[in-house]
Amino acid sequence: MTIRFDNRVAIVTGAGGGLGREYALQLAARGCRVVVNDLGGARDGSGGSLSAADDVVAEIVATGGEAVANGASVTDAAAVDAMVADAVGRWGQVDILINNAGILRDRSFAKMSLEDFAQVMDVHVSGTVNCTRAVWDGMRGRVYGRILMTTSSSGMYGNFGQANYAAAKAAMIGLVKTLHLEGAKFDVRVNAIAPLAATRMTEDLMPAEMAARMGPETVAPAALYLVSEDAPSNVILNAGAGGFERTYITMTRGIHVAAADMSPETVAARFAEISDREGEVVPETGTAQGAMALGSASRPA
Ligand code: NAI
Repeated sequence: MTIRFDNRVAIVTGAGGGLGREYALQLAARGCRVVVNDLGGARDGSGGSLSAADDVVAEIVATGGEAVANGASVTDAAAVDAMVADAVGRWGQVDILINNAGILRDRSFAKMSLEDFAQVMDVHVSGTVNCTRAVWDGMRGRVYGRILMTTSSSGMYGNFGQANYAAAKAAMIGLVKTLHLEGAKFDVRVNAIAPLAATRMTEDLMPAEMAARMGPETVAPAALYLVSEDAPSNVILNAGAGGFERTYITMTRGIHVAAADMSPETVAARFAEISDREGEVVPETGTAQGAMALGSASRPA
């Protein structure tokens, strides 16, 4: 069945270029009204102008779509609230939020300033929280919402030189897992995408011929599915270059020992068993994980 977004309203942050631009164009091509948000700064978050977002809006309008530009920084909660109020005033609601805006300030941890750390956390974490909070009540009230967070291989698996970015992107996963639970009753579905694409963020990391095979259009199908009417919730979907995979956070069966054996030496001696992935599970919630751990504590040691 064709996925459509007629009569839906989406906000895509950081949509002046790269992945966000592609999401905005593809949503609009499928009938969605789109707020194209972008601060228009450089890759490290400096500077800003509305022109990038304006260009994307012009592209959408030229092909018969509906879109409006917004130049708020996602880090400015008041400006974000105003953006959401504008969208609601114009189109009556916000159904979809794609938290995509992001910056990089790569440096090894030894050389990373606290300012570089705070700035990256601010854009990814506070930015995502500001935007999500601004649409949350409306989505709950209308009992419909689709929210997509942007995580990264760095946040899930780590990358040298990206301590700030990795910490910020890992935070997205905790947010998804908790907001998915809190939103479920109101049909607010919350997911994460882990993209891999050639954009200005990654342009210096790959040869041109590889970049040609991994444009933002190879990620957008996953993003659009995750904000569609029949979207799943609580999913981490990796996408890029034609590949689509899911990431899970798993727990091994582990071991349980009697009080007398609760020593670091026991942990050391049985570390291979603790680490054995045979029979591992994906706990649905933190509470469920705790219950499983307690439950298996009653297994024979
Ligand atoms: P990009 O640099 O082309 O796009 C990011 C956009 O966010 C830019 O247009 C920028 O102006 C905007 N932005 C930055 N700070 C903002 C703020 N405070 N308020 C509003 N807009 C702001 O990079 P790309 O690759 O399209 O990245 C999009 C998202 O995907 C980011 O969250 C990034 O961390 C993430 N990502 C990208 C990967 C890739 O392979 N390209 C890999 C993993 C994650």
